[in-house]
Amino acid sequence: MNRWFRAVCVPAVALFVIAVVLPALTVAQGPAPVPPPGPTLVAAQKALPWAFPIAAPGQTRHDDGKVQMLPGAARGFTVPEINDPFAPPDWFPNEHPAAPPIVATGRRPEVRACGQCHMLHGLGHPESSSLAGLPAAYIRQQMEDFKTDARKNSPLMSGMARAMTPKELEDSANYYASIPMQKWTRIVEAADVPKTFVGPGNMRFVDTKQTGTEPIAGRIIELPEDAEHAELRDPHSPFMAYVPPGSIKRGEQLVAGGNGRTVRCTICHGADLKGMGPVPGLAGRSPIYIVRQLYSFQQAGLRDGLWADLMKDAVAKLTVDDMVAIAAYTASRQP
Ligand code: HEC
Ligand code: HEC
Repeated sequence: MNRWFRAVCVPAVALFVIAVVLPALTVAQGPAPVPPPGPTLVAAQKALPWAFPIAAPGQTRHDDGKVQMLPGAARGFTVPEINDPFAPPDWFPNEHPAAPPIVATGRRPEVRACGQCHMLHGLGHPESSSLAGLPAAYIRQQMEDFKTDARKNSPLMSGMARAMTPKELEDSANYYASIPMQKWTRIVEAADVPKTFVGPGNMRFVDTKQTGTEPIAGRIIELPEDAEHAELRDPHSPFMAYVPPGSIKRGEQLVAGGNGRTVRCTICHGADLKGMGPVPGLAGRSPIYIVRQLYSFQQAGLRDGLWADLMKDAVAKLTVDDMVAIAAYTASRQP
């Protein structure tokens, strides 16, 4: 019995530990939980739900279990792979510089890959932001402001900024600063817009179950040009935004100083709004992102970072309609 035990059971148990228990223990850790939004952010999400989109609970991505393909891509990815926060799909590796590990894969459990939301070409999705072509010094300062909670409009970004090493902060800022910003959002003035909903990942989509249109009612309705491709995180799948009729022209007047209603934006953001020194560019960026930021500077407590004081005069007297017009104009500019 004793010999049998040593000859059969001990090796069997050892094999079981090596083959089954150890892999189960080292199985990939999921991402660290995101802290809940603070009261000022919740208030902003309630006041401007179209600019601060939040998916209704229980939304999931459709997974047919198949490998998804894109024309011209060397390999495909399954839906869970496409949504892996630690290995977002790199559909076209030849179209961007080699990404540092923090951008391509992040670091478990706190730091998700920057490329998941901002994408590897840095053009991003409207619910996050574009990073391509932003000054490296500006990116570093935003990470510092997220870290100290001086910028409170993304608890997710704050958690990640606190967990990142100085090298990871440096690498990610340099990477995105090195990529040129491109046109990514088409702006269309319209009095009526399709009926839409906020889906998984906080992206807005056309509601194909509802027919007809609804009044734009002073909002900006920003949508993927192709919903399926945007969900695949296709870097060739751009966005479009409906803006209220007349807003591009009105925005142009406001950006020029608006008869004392605001200050001339070009003084700091550059003659063509493509940025100047450490001041970020505005041209061609997601219009709902721009409204979120103008509102965040104005609403005490959401954007009070080191350089935010320079923006306080520009936003002090703006109404939400003014912010919509400004964003319609800046988004329509060539980056
Ligand atoms: C899960 C999604 C997600 C991931 C992953 C992510 N971000 Fe973000 N990031 C956001 C969102 C959402 C915002 C926009 C907050 C807002 O509306 O103000 C943002 C904003 C930013 C901004 C501010 C941009 C600006 O113009 O001021 C910077 C900089 C930034 N992220 C850097 C990073 C870096 C670096 C990484 C990787 C370490 C990263 N992000 C990973 C979602 C993400
Ligand atoms: C006196 C200089 C100055 C003027 C004038 C100015 N800005 Fe800014 N702007 C800045 C600085 C500096 C920042 C970065 C603030 C920070 O780090 O929080 C900024 C940030 C922004 C952002 C956030 C960008 C991002 O990536 O998150 C927006 C949007 C913006 N400005 C719009 C405008 C508009 C619109 C006007 C004109 C109505 C304007 N600014 C006028 C200096 C200025």
